[in-house]
Amino acid sequence: MKDVALRPVTTPLSGELRVPGDKSISHRAVILGSLAKGTTTITNFLTGEDCIRTVEAFRQFGVSIKQDGTSLQITSDGPESFTEPAIPLYFGNSGTTARLMLGVLAGLPLFTSVYGDASLASRPMDRVVAPLKNMGARFDGRSGGSYLPMAVKGGHLKGIHYQLPVKSAQVKSAVLLGGLSADGMTEVTEETPTRNHSENMLRAFGADISEANGRIRITSQKALKGIDVHVPGDISSAAFFMTAAAIVPGSQLTLKNTGLNHTRTGIIDVLRDMGTGVAISNQHTMGGETFGDVTITQQKLKGTVIDGDIIPRLIDELPVIALAATQAEGQTVIRDAKELRLKETDRIDAITDGLTRLGAQITPTDDGMIIKGVSQLTGGKAAAYNDHRIAMMLAVASFITRGEVVIDDISSIDISYPNFFRDVQTITRKW
Ligand code: S3P
Repeated sequence: MKDVALRPVTTPLSGELRVPGDKSISHRAVILGSLAKGTTTITNFLTGEDCIRTVEAFRQFGVSIKQDGTSLQITSDGPESFTEPAIPLYFGNSGTTARLMLGVLAGLPLFTSVYGDASLASRPMDRVVAPLKNMGARFDGRSGGSYLPMAVKGGHLKGIHYQLPVKSAQVKSAVLLGGLSADGMTEVTEETPTRNHSENMLRAFGADISEANGRIRITSQKALKGIDVHVPGDISSAAFFMTAAAIVPGSQLTLKNTGLNHTRTGIIDVLRDMGTGVAISNQHTMGGETFGDVTITQQKLKGTVIDGDIIPRLIDELPVIALAATQAEGQTVIRDAKELRLKETDRIDAITDGLTRLGAQITPTDDGMIIKGVSQLTGGKAAAYNDHRIAMMLAVASFITRGEVVIDDISSIDISYPNFFRDVQTITRKW
């Protein structure tokens, strides 16, 4: 799909949606299901492009992964049975596949080479390569091993103590995945909590893992065993519709079966802080993950400050939070979010460019942005920068613009939300 023109909505948003499965959890379920012995079934798996890259990588090792809609069945005899892939592994646009798989590859006594698309090739890999090299894996890649393409020879790792220098769950997870096969104990410490799906799922698959006060320890003492995983709806996908309901006057919308892990719920805290009505019901926990229904009721918004420890809890939601801020009274300041510059595109520049073209007033800063609220967005032409979250943010902006929003290319949305426009139609009856 290319260039699309989207018209504003004229009625409040209402009803219920079930957004697709969580991207982070879907990746991890495939990784651990493939490393585990036995059968793993995954339901509500996200079939977006990024997660398919992880599936394809394990198929190249000889793991049997059968897909039926959003259900997967993985049958594996564990890493000892993996065969050396004859051709390079392609990670596409997926930073999570790349960083987590480098952790897996570091632990395998095999030679592999890996590459990605142009966006992924520009994203830093040294953040995972450095600790994994310390554990004993060998990497050779572009710019001294900082970027893909990369060649890896793994195996015979030893445990390390690693203090995370960046607030990144991908780095934490890569080191823990290396630790799964390393001699001795691997310990990762983090000052600020980042998403903990790897820890939850490693525990559910039977790994010897513990966590206390930001210290996560893992040993290779126990082999993983296949389990059943039910993936919650992705709060990062729900965020687009939560925000839509928060900015379209008179809206009330429920996002069913949404993942509510506390390391991911920063968007809920911010929407509440800005004045939106948020009610949570049917909350329950399964496999260490919390699920629940989130009902958003539109109310007048006010500006806020978003910085510090909340940033990793909403990093992927900042594009759509910036859109909400354009509709708030007063100014919103986002800081401590320099990591946004290292995502699928430089999201500080992409948000500023996109929303400015639609009539908002935003000043980019080195590590965030300042958004002047209550602007009637005009509409116009904007670029998605081949970034799924920018494309979806611009699509949601079209709900409230005076005129049309024309987005240059929406194909990237398949990365994380294959049926996005079907769901837009369900709640807006727009097209
Ligand atoms: C992810 C972690 C975050 C997030 C990304 C998915 C994960 O990245 O932005 O979309 O699944 O671990 P960082 O770990 O680089 O912050």
